[in-house]
Amino acid sequence: MTLDELRQQCLACQQCPLAVTRHHVVFGVGPDPSPILFVGEGPGQQEDLQGEPFVGPAGQLLDEMLSIIDLSRRNCYITNIVKCRPPHNRDPLETEQEACIGFLRQQTRLLQPKILVCLGRIAAMRLIEPGFRITRDHGRWYQKGGLWMTALFHPSALLRDVAKRPDTFRDLKGLQAKIREVLPDFYG
Ligand code: URA
Repeated sequence: MTLDELRQQCLACQQCPLAVTRHHVVFGVGPDPSPILFVGEGPGQQEDLQGEPFVGPAGQLLDEMLSIIDLSRRNCYITNIVKCRPPHNRDPLETEQEACIGFLRQQTRLLQPKILVCLGRIAAMRLIEPGFRITRDHGRWYQKGGLWMTALFHPSALLRDVAKRPDTFRDLKGLQAKIREVLPDFYG
């Protein structure tokens, strides 16, 4: 299966009730394969309307965060735990995550990233460990079967609470150091 075939499957998905209310499935964006994978929580209103992850206000901030360490949508892949918008931007339900997580697993297998960055607690609890506490554990590194994983505060949290931004700046610098260590050719 190619990433494009997986995208086609995902676009037709009816496995949970979010399929009824969505305007677009938001599969993901970025190079294939991709050495770095960012995973958010789920599409918001703008993402649902446009079919692309992180294009609303949080996305603008994410782009700025990426550019601090010379990353962009062109050199890393961005997706979400659930591919369809939960109504009113509520947290995706356990059942919705469960119905959708297979797409992320297959994306990860196909993209072959060496570094996976969770954006916010929902992704971190799902992908790193259920007891993950974003306030305590952001910026820490975990290794799972050859994949390095960490979590940053979600950009929406950084929009609400600017006091979190200095920590995120340090976490981004930690990410840059890990990229240099694990992917020595990445920055050329
Ligand atoms: N928040 C997310 O977690 N993902 C998006 O794609 C947009 C906002």
